[in-house]
Amino acid sequence: MAQSIALAGKGGTGKTTIAALLISRLCALGKGPILAVDADADANLGSLLGITPGKTLGDIREQALKDIKKLPAGMTKANYFELGLHEIIEESKGFDLITMGRAEGSGCYCYLNSLIRKFIDDLSPSYNWLVMDNEAGLEHLSRQTTRDIDALIVVITENPLSFQSATSISEILADMGSRIKKKYVVTNMIKHNNRKEEIIERLSDINLEYIGNIPIDEELDEIIFRGDSLLNLKDSPAINEISKILEIIGG
Ligand SMILES: Nc1ncnc2c1ncn2[C@@H]1O[C@H](COP(=O)(O)OP(=O)(O)O)[C@@H](O)[C@H]1O
Ligand SMILES: [Mg+2]
Repeated sequence: MAQSIALAGKGGTGKTTIAALLISRLCALGKGPILAVDADADANLGSLLGITPGKTLGDIREQALKDIKKLPAGMTKANYFELGLHEIIEESKGFDLITMGRAEGSGCYCYLNSLIRKFIDDLSPSYNWLVMDNEAGLEHLSRQTTRDIDALIVVITENPLSFQSATSISEILADMGSRIKKKYVVTNMIKHNNRKEEIIERLSDINLEYIGNIPIDEELDEIIFRGDSLLNLKDSPAINEISKILEIIGG
């Protein structure tokens, strides 16, 4: 069964970047195959990994809602939708990507969502790792898989609002009980080194284990600015810290 990592935290803290760095590092270590799930409606994990955006789950869901009345004879709704789901897996070297996209329109998604959940649950045994990038909220987590999460990483920055998010996330996590096995926190892009200690101090109130501090990385910044893939970032301060974090998580 794949080992799963999910990212959470306030918008702009670096969740997507860290998800991409984790995937990049796991690929470099030959730890694939990895299933990357982009569960942010404003999808951009793929572009950080050099993948041109294709169809999303949201697109397939819309299409299925439109076509459901004119299905070919003998085809069930579930069959039809599953065919579409297989279209959206983007295959790359060492990893595959599924992009959730938006759930627009006024149709009822409950049934289709349950098929998505089953789809991801069924897929995950074929992979060694599952890396899930999320929106700021955690609602997605239970919508996209019924599986347990092995490691949830909450990302915070110097922005005090990111602490507030981490606090509310840790409260939600407490309600989710044993579905989340390990709960971690990492700091990212801390500009003032002397603040690190204070941040760790403030974190002591939250029930999350502190496992790393990812520095502002000029090389990473340049790659993103050029629109290149983070898979090309082989040796840099951020990647080195990601390696340490992965060792703690068990990679
Ligand atoms: N360690 C880092 N060094 C330099 N830039 C970073 C770092 N982490 C994130 N960024 C930049 O910060 C911005 C927000 O990151 P992003 O991963 O999109 O956040 P989120 O997914 O949490 O909204 C992006 O422009 C990203 O390139
Ligand atoms: Mg993001």
